[in-house]
Amino acid sequence: MKRIFFSLSGIAIIALLFAFNNSKQTGYTTVTNDVSFEIPKEVLTVINNKCYGCHNTKSKGEKSKKKLNWDNFTNNEYNSVKIYTKLGKIEKMLGENKMPPAKFLEKYPKKTLTEEEKQLILAWAKEQKIALQSE
Ligand code: HEC
Repeated sequence: MKRIFFSLSGIAIIALLFAFNNSKQTGYTTVTNDVSFEIPKEVLTVINNKCYGCHNTKSKGEKSKKKLNWDNFTNNEYNSVKIYTKLGKIEKMLGENKMPPAKFLEKYPKKTLTEEEKQLILAWAKEQKIALQSE
């Protein structure tokens, strides 16, 4: 009986781990003040690798974090209007190949967005804007 109990709890733990892992893989949905907003995992990976360093609450660049702070998408600091505006700015910056900044890329060429990554973020931004409009 004891053995059955242990194996059952083992299965439960594995199932929980699976569920947790899966939710991570499909990205996360975060509910801001008045809207739901989604960043899929693939998009998040690109952002974490190539944008987040300069655009987060603890970032040293005052200007970059003031203009765009990724943490604010998830901590309820940005409401739907703000999110919509930021998505538009992201589209503009990427459309003009302005981010990450050229000066930074001279030093860290590996941080350049590949065409695929750029299209991924652009498609995501566009999709999220449409979702926000229909809320
Ligand atoms: C090396 C630091 C750095 C990295 C990496 C970086 N940025 Fe920036 N970003 C800045 C700075 C600095 C500014 C402010 C530029 C200015 O206003 O002159 C900025 C501004 C912006 C803005 C605001 C534009 C506006 O007019 O409000 C957006 C949007 C943006 N970045 C998106 C991104 C995205 C998307 C990535 C990743 C692909 C990225 N950034 C990576 C430093 C960075």
